[in-house]
Amino acid sequence: MKKRESISALDAQLEALKIAFAPVIFQVVRTMREFGILTLLDKHKEGLTLEEIAQKSDISSYGAKILLESALSASVVLEDEGRYRLSKIGYFLENDTMVKTNMEFNHHVNYKGLFELDKSIKEQRPVGLEVFGEWDTIYPHLGVLPPKAKKAWFDFDHFYSDSAFDSSIEKLKAFNPQTVLDIGGNTGKFSIRFAKNSENINLTILDLPGQIEMAQKNIRENGLEDRVNFFPLDILNHEAEIPKGFDIIWMSQFIDCFSKEDAIKILTRVRESMDENARLCILEPLWDKQRFKSASYCIINTSPYFTAMANGCSKMFNSTDLFDYIRRAGLEIEETIDNLGVSPHTLVKCKKSL
Ligand SMILES: C[S@@+](CC[C@H](N)C(=O)[O-])C[C@H]1O[C@@H](n2cnc3c(N)ncnc32)[C@H](O)[C@@H]1O
Repeated sequence: MKKRESISALDAQLEALKIAFAPVIFQVVRTMREFGILTLLDKHKEGLTLEEIAQKSDISSYGAKILLESALSASVVLEDEGRYRLSKIGYFLENDTMVKTNMEFNHHVNYKGLFELDKSIKEQRPVGLEVFGEWDTIYPHLGVLPPKAKKAWFDFDHFYSDSAFDSSIEKLKAFNPQTVLDIGGNTGKFSIRFAKNSENINLTILDLPGQIEMAQKNIRENGLEDRVNFFPLDILNHEAEIPKGFDIIWMSQFIDCFSKEDAIKILTRVRESMDENARLCILEPLWDKQRFKSASYCIINTSPYFTAMANGCSKMFNSTDLFDYIRRAGLEIEETIDNLGVSPHTLVKCKKSL
C-alpha cells in the first residue's frame, strides 16, 4: 500500500521553498558566523538591538538588517520588542561541532563545485573539482588545496573517524595483533594513536605518496619512526600487490572513496594478501545503522561531495551495499560492531572465505 503523507499543501510548499532558498540561508548564517554575530548573540542572552549588533560587529545597519531578517525567517534568531537573540537552532549553529564542521566543509570545499553536480553525474567525473585544479580526483592533491579548503577537508575527515578510533583500537587489541597495515592511513592519526596505546605493535601506513609525506612528518614528530613504516601506493593500480604478512588490515573511511568496481577489486586484492589468520577490519559510518536522523542526514548528504568534488564515482554506504562488496570479493563477515564514535561507525571484521 502507498504511504500516506500527513503534511498539508501549504506546509509542503513552505518546505519546498526552504530548499529553493537553502543556499541563501546557508550563506546568511555563514556570514553571521564570520562576522561574529552568532557568538555575540550567544553571549548576550538578554538580546541586542539591530544598532547594537551592527556596531559591535562593525558592519552597517543595512547589512545587519539583511542578515537578521533572513535569520529570523529561518528561525535562527528570535525577536522580541526590537531585541534579537539566538534560537535553539541558532545555538546549535554556534556551538555544535558536527554542525560547524559540516558547514565549513560545505562552504570551503563543496559550495562552488556543487554547481556542477549535474555535469558530474552526466560525465561521471568530478567536474566541480575544477574550482581547485585540473585534476582527475581530489586525493593526490589534498596537501595542496587552498589553506581554508585543506583545513576544512581534514577537520571534516578527522571529526568523524577520530571519535571512533579509541573504541576501535580496544576491539582490535582483542585479536592480539603484532602487525597492522593501515590502508588509507592519511596523516597517520590512527597509526599514531594505536602505536602510543600499544608498545608492541608495528604499523605500516599505505597511502598515496603525497599523504605519506604528511604522515612521515607526523610520525617523526611523535618519535614513532621505529614502529611505523610506510608504503606509498596508488591502490587503483590494480596490477600492484598489496603487501603481505599483516595480522590486521585496517581501512577507515577508505573503501567509500572508490567506485563499486574498484572497491570490489581492491577488496579482492586485499583478500589475496591475507593468510587464514589475518583479519580485514573496515570502519565505516553506515547511514542505515544510525540511531539519530541527524547522523544519517549528514552521511547521506556527503555523497554528492564524492560525485562533484572527489572522484565522480563513489558514495557513502548503507550496510547492504558494503556487505555485498565484501562478499563479492571472497571475504566472509565474521563480526560487525555498531555504535563506535559520533555519527557512529560500524566495524566490520572479515576473514578469507574458505
Ligand atoms: C577519507 S580519507 C580517510 C583517512 C583515514 N583513514 C581516516 O579514517 O580518517 C581516505 C584516504 O584514502 C586515501 N586514498 C584515496 N585514494 C587512494 C588511492 N588511489 N591509493 C591510496 N590511497 C588513497 C586518501 O589519500 C586518504 O588518506
